[in-house]
Amino acid sequence: MKQSVKMIVGNWKMNGLAEHLAEAVALRDALTTGPSGVRVGLCPPATLVARMASVLDGSRVEIGGQDCHAQASGAFTGSVSAPMLVDAGARLVILGHSERRAGCGETDSVVAAKVRAAVVTGLEPILCVGETLAEHQAGEAVAVVTRQIEGSLPDIPAGTALAVAYEPVWAIGSGLTPTADQIAEVHAAIRAALSGRLGEAAAAVPILYGGSVNPGNAADLLAIDGVDGALVGGAALKAADFLAIIHAAGRGVAADAQG
Ligand code: PGA
Repeated sequence: MKQSVKMIVGNWKMNGLAEHLAEAVALRDALTTGPSGVRVGLCPPATLVARMASVLDGSRVEIGGQDCHAQASGAFTGSVSAPMLVDAGARLVILGHSERRAGCGETDSVVAAKVRAAVVTGLEPILCVGETLAEHQAGEAVAVVTRQIEGSLPDIPAGTALAVAYEPVWAIGSGLTPTADQIAEVHAAIRAALSGRLGEAAAAVPILYGGSVNPGNAADLLAIDGVDGALVGGAALKAADFLAIIHAAGRGVAADAQG
């Protein structure tokens, strides 16, 4: 099923000080005039979630965290919990990003516990999966993402808000992207794995592509079969670039509606 709304989410990673909230303000103001058919999210570092939520209050931009702990509270120095993100104004949370899987030792079962915590709290998880360069070169992308979906998606109630992002590790921040055929194949495999877990409810889960999405390639990437949106890193830091991607999504939705 082709989804009639595209979801475009920015991941600021460990970037952003109070002065950079001006980019969020510019985004908010520009989005008052469209485009329609695009859901927009922005995930700043935890330190900016509450301030960004207040700056964007009443706008169409949804705020997200970039991680959360599996526990709601306790002796976990340095961690942020799902209820804390909600309390700060977040609706979304990126979980299982490869930078946390690789850099912070997050296994599929750790990610699954975080997804469960997010869902219980009412946050919409954006569950990230993707193969490394070596796995890509060995032709293992489909096997890897299928295994990651099976291992890092816990049992969740039917109708739970959830998104998945396919982010090939080698495409993140590199300027490289898979071919359209490769992306379509992996997105279809993710959809199949989701159907195996969620049944018919899988059809409602947006599957985003992430990895070197920029204003120049967004339209082509978003037009690939099975791509329901984008998770954007570097190009989400500047409102002008992020807006160009959002507008590319809007044009794609409008063209689909006509044709
Ligand atoms: P990138 O990052 O757009 O800078 O490649 C994407 C991501 O890691 O979410």
